[in-house]
Amino acid sequence: MKHRVFSGIQPSGTLTLGNYLGAMKNFVTLQDEADCIFCIVDLHAITVPQEPEKLRQNSINLAALYLASGIDPAKSTLFIQSHVPAHAELGWMLQCVAYYGELGRMTQFKDKSAKKEVVTAGLFTYPALMAADILLYQTSLVPVGEDQKQHLELTRDIAERFNSKFGDTFTIPEPFIPKVGGRIMSLEEPTKKMSKSDESAGAYISMLDEPSVIRKKISRAVTDSGREVRYDPAEKAAISNLMTIYSLCSGKSIEEIQAEYDGQGYGPFKKDLAEVVVAALEPIQNRYRDLLQSGEVVDILRQGAKRASEQCGDTLADVKSKFGFLS
Ligand code: TYM
Repeated sequence: MKHRVFSGIQPSGTLTLGNYLGAMKNFVTLQDEADCIFCIVDLHAITVPQEPEKLRQNSINLAALYLASGIDPAKSTLFIQSHVPAHAELGWMLQCVAYYGELGRMTQFKDKSAKKEVVTAGLFTYPALMAADILLYQTSLVPVGEDQKQHLELTRDIAERFNSKFGDTFTIPEPFIPKVGGRIMSLEEPTKKMSKSDESAGAYISMLDEPSVIRKKISRAVTDSGREVRYDPAEKAAISNLMTIYSLCSGKSIEEIQAEYDGQGYGPFKKDLAEVVVAALEPIQNRYRDLLQSGEVVDILRQGAKRASEQCGDTLADVKSKFGFLS
């Protein structure tokens, strides 16, 4: 049997190059060798305030971006989390398996709740819903960026706890975090993760940035002291991050890039990097616009939700019966 792969992305605004290189690009590769399920996690998005009209639009836009990046509905299941009620159902049940203490140790919760006037209970229990997403489908592999590693570890703990109490129920999932690209850094502060919630738009490249904007952001990206294009994340964090982006967008190895720019300095490297990123994103942007115009996205999502519901029904029924719910 093929591996079962599951991953999700929040529909909370445009995606960054970090989301693409750390996650989505790998989704596309995996769909040729595994049985893949990809989700637009709108239930997760409402753990922080969302404007209803924007959330609706962002969900459709994210679906179009998945498809434009190469997710093929003939190979993979693509759907919206709230269209499959099993996620919220199992999410609740796993809140009753996860411990308060372990949820409080999640660094993402600590970061997202710091300095906020109000913090929803949903933001706190977020990882239990994420565990439900994964465990509902007997997932064996979860492609994500480095920042989701701790949530994956908690998912495994929850699954093991449930299995040892009630007998084998859930497959224990493995994270799939790319060695190169698992953590794409900010263009302005290379010690910080590239994130769409950064206050400065110069810190990240959006997957939908115009070529002229991409060129400008890369030309303004900070570099390290010296002028050598050399991969050394400890000593040269900024240039190493840019080399990682170059490598993933062009398919060239870090060694090839280093040899190519040997003795040339940062200028020519950054100029070529901008073209490499534009060449990677422009075709996706064109397909994205076509898809949104075609109106086919809604149908694909409807079929995806139907398929996902079928794929998770047995596991949900099994869990309910093990808890002792009357059928
Ligand atoms: P989200 O929506 O924040 O991000 C989507 C994916 O992008 C990755 N990512 C990055 N990778 C490399 N470098 C970066 N700078 C970078 N920024 C983001 C994230 O690691 C993620 O893989 N909790 C998840 C969504 C989720 C999920 C799931 C994922 C809900 N249920 C089940 C996997 C399985 C999240 O908020 O991702």
